[in-house]
Amino acid sequence: MANAYNAYEDPRLAASYERGNEMPTESLRAWAELIAGYAPTEREPGGKSGRFGGRFDEAGPAVLEVGAGTGMLCAALARALPDATVTGVEPSAPMRAQATANNAHPRVRYLAGSAEQLPLPAVGFGLALLSRVVHHLPDRPAAARELARVLRPGGRLVIRTTVRERLDAPVYRYWPQLLESDALRFPSEGELLADFGSAGFAVHRVHSYAQPVAGDLRGWRDQLVDRPQSKFLALSQEQFAAGLARLDQELAAAGEEAGSGRQVVTGSGGRPTGGRSATAVEERYDVIVLERTPVAV
Ligand SMILES: C[S@@+](CC[C@H](N)C(=O)[O-])C[C@H]1O[C@@H](n2cnc3c(N)ncnc32)[C@H](O)[C@@H]1O
Repeated sequence: MANAYNAYEDPRLAASYERGNEMPTESLRAWAELIAGYAPTEREPGGKSGRFGGRFDEAGPAVLEVGAGTGMLCAALARALPDATVTGVEPSAPMRAQATANNAHPRVRYLAGSAEQLPLPAVGFGLALLSRVVHHLPDRPAAARELARVLRPGGRLVIRTTVRERLDAPVYRYWPQLLESDALRFPSEGELLADFGSAGFAVHRVHSYAQPVAGDLRGWRDQLVDRPQSKFLALSQEQFAAGLARLDQELAAAGEEAGSGRQVVTGSGGRPTGGRSATAVEERYDVIVLERTPVAV
């Protein structure tokens, strides 16, 4: 189903994605280090197969990001794992163009392809990542089988998403309609574990992790103004404008409070609470770490 509808084929969304989803450098590094920490440390016996060869070769782990988008995490993973080679597979040509332009790295390559049909031989990557992608997959069981095919036994798959039962993105505070549309798009933890379990994955660890996505509410607002995520397509122009107006009202009120010596803190979920100083807007994700079992079930 490589030709299923993909909003990210739209060059306008691809062009606004990088800026609109950029994280502070520290957050990106923290995410990359967390994900890189799941790379298996043992080498596969006789595993040398050369550059981008897919095996846990002499140089370091072979890492795969599927649905790599503009390549932010591919480049960050290459920086976090100095011996790794990173392959980013991405179906959208405009997104790949952004990746090549903005996140080129000597140990990263970008390939055209979809999760359901990976353009890779079954050579055994050590670590794979699906970041904010599982809700886009038209055939998740097929994608799970493909990832099982290209990961070596003992290799790990990190799924970075928000599962349906824990949807709590800060955007829902201003655009509550998005909570309803995302509840229809995002799989539950049980659905993910069932699909990937059937393909030959066992659970290694499931946890949550939060990092700032913007230094403050104003910066976050300015990132969102171009509607840089596919979820915003669910909103009419009027609905988007109404949510932005709510955000602007809050910023104006925060400015007045700051003027009176009080400031606003936005925490995970974007809820302002009383506090000493303005702080970052955080986004929390579920991190589902699966291990490829020796024999596919
Ligand atoms: C929200 S972006 C995430 C990009 C990147 N992984 C990140 O975390 O910033 C979702 C990406 O998934 C890609 N995508 C959509 N359908 C896909 C599929 N069937 N297989 C692989 N990637 C897909 C889109 O083109 C888009 O680049």
